[in-house]
Amino acid sequence: MARIVGGVTTSHVPAIGGAIARRLQSEPYWKPFFDGFIPVRQWLAEVKPDVAVVFYNDHGLNFFLDKMPTFAVGAAPEYRNADEGWGIPTLAPLKGDPAFSWHVIESLVDEEFDPVSCQEMLVDHAVSLPMALLWPDQACPVRVIPVCINTVQAPLPSARRCYKLGRAVARAVQSWPGDEKVLMIGTGGLSHQLDGERAGFINKPFDLEFMRSLTENPAWATQFSTHELVEKAGTQGIELLMWLATRAALPASVTQLHTNYHLPISNTATGLMLLQAAA
Ligand code: DHB
Ligand code: FE
Repeated sequence: MARIVGGVTTSHVPAIGGAIARRLQSEPYWKPFFDGFIPVRQWLAEVKPDVAVVFYNDHGLNFFLDKMPTFAVGAAPEYRNADEGWGIPTLAPLKGDPAFSWHVIESLVDEEFDPVSCQEMLVDHAVSLPMALLWPDQACPVRVIPVCINTVQAPLPSARRCYKLGRAVARAVQSWPGDEKVLMIGTGGLSHQLDGERAGFINKPFDLEFMRSLTENPAWATQFSTHELVEKAGTQGIELLMWLATRAALPASVTQLHTNYHLPISNTATGLMLLQAAA
């Protein structure tokens, strides 16, 4: 049986790609952000997960407004990163695990989730940058199963639904007969709003309460509607749904091994958490 070893949740601001390309990790603006990843990398080097389920939101690279799945799961042998127009260098393709992916898809459909299955899937900065932060030599040692959640076009899935998706993904992983160690990754958030009257909006008290809830009371955010979450975290802050699905995919009992919260990077309150699953 595959074993869920823990979860990492992180923001995914595109400017991180530019900072990596220009080797700005030690500059005062970037250092507190990049240094946050050192303990997580140490933990990954010890635990050595084989597979990562990556909960992320596509920003218009693979899915556009003409066809917008609520949930989509990758079942491709590899996932290519492509230019999204931010001017950040394209990162190396990530290896997939089609058999494991299909098992997750079958299990989800069996549980009355109906994800779009993707045998070809481009992945944007929401996947490529977190992987580059976790494995900075860009030789990503894990096979990935991308799970895409719509945060782009209404109607968005509710926090409650994303929590249930996370639980269902956990059951799918636990019913896979292989002996892989599986890491859950959630990318996006925390509070940010890139456009409109509240552009630049950040809500630190809410972010910190949300982060605390993930260890102490993981379903806390499911009390809020999508509109309430946008009000609290900003239009793009709704990406915190990825963190919620990731937490839901972990066992009830987790140990918080590391957190970092730094603001702002670009327009975003950047957060990072490492939660280890109880053995
Ligand atoms: C920014 C943050 C995001 O999550 C994103 O997808 C794009 C841009 C930003 O703060 O610049
Ligand atoms: Fe984003």
